Amino acid sequence: MAQESLYTPAICVVGSLNMDLVAYAPHLPTAGETVLGGPFATYPGGKGANQAVAAARLGATVAMIGRVGDDGFGRELYANLIREGVASQHIIALSEVATGVALITVDAEGQNTIVVAPGANALLTVEDINAAAAAITSAQTLLLQLETPLDVVRHAAALAHDAGVTVILNPAPAQPLPVDILNLIDCIIPNEHEAAILLDQPDAADAKNLADMVRAHTGIATVVVTLGARGAALATTALSTMLPAHPVHAIDATAAGDAFVAAFAVALANGHSTEQAVRWGNAAGALATTKTGAQPSLPKHSELAAFLHD
Ligand code: RIB
Repeated sequence: MAQESLYTPAICVVGSLNMDLVAYAPHLPTAGETVLGGPFATYPGGKGANQAVAAARLGATVAMIGRVGDDGFGRELYANLIREGVASQHIIALSEVATGVALITVDAEGQNTIVVAPGANALLTVEDINAAAAAITSAQTLLLQLETPLDVVRHAAALAHDAGVTVILNPAPAQPLPVDILNLIDCIIPNEHEAAILLDQPDAADAKNLADMVRAHTGIATVVVTLGARGAALATTALSTMLPAHPVHAIDATAAGDAFVAAFAVALANGHSTEQAVRWGNAAGALATTKTGAQPSLPKHSELAAFLHD
């Protein structure tokens, strides 16, 4: 994974942009509880934008399609994407709605809870996707999540599928998915809770063969289940294996999943095997937990390379 051998793949992301409003606290509140926390911070976030920025930092050429409000947060998120080198001409600013925000609490162990108020993300339309279709059909890989409307996800996936573009879905936040969407996906990357919801089996999150179960249930060729500090389970037509995580001192898990998805996608687009792509994902996810915030925590290619060679 030397820098000089890095091929520049084209990745298109259809997804959300949120401003993250983060409070650090000794523990996560339970229902009805008020917790006296520590510092407060705002960070650029949103699963879509996080994955776009993460892929760009790893050396990919990235375009993003999404919506923000015509407000301060929206302008900040847009400027940030530009700074990160993400092609942002398909980010539309709407005057009648606020930019998406995420209310995040992070505890002393780095675990979090997140509530997303989607705002403009919920108003992304099939017409927006049609207007930006070339960004999808000319890409090598399309990255999708579930913080934008399902009909938009379906339409973008169909355009990519018909054009022979690899479609990777990170089904977060969790929801059951109709078979017509599943049939358009080449690779799905849920965490264990999202996997259990895909399977419609709430107790399945602890199952040893979760990736195989998701593969059998969805018919998707490549399934990666991220398991946090335990690593990731991979199931493909050729293999079923577990790839361990890298032990790190985690201080904030926010966007670790997004770092994983982006690193996996960039590695695959660079011609690496699915196993090696999961190794990239595990390393990027681990590194992201060692810094606070969503996008500030996403590793650059040089950091990932150094970490994998240690
Ligand atoms: O995956 C982390 C992200 O989820 C945060 O940045 C937040 O905005 C929510 O979308």
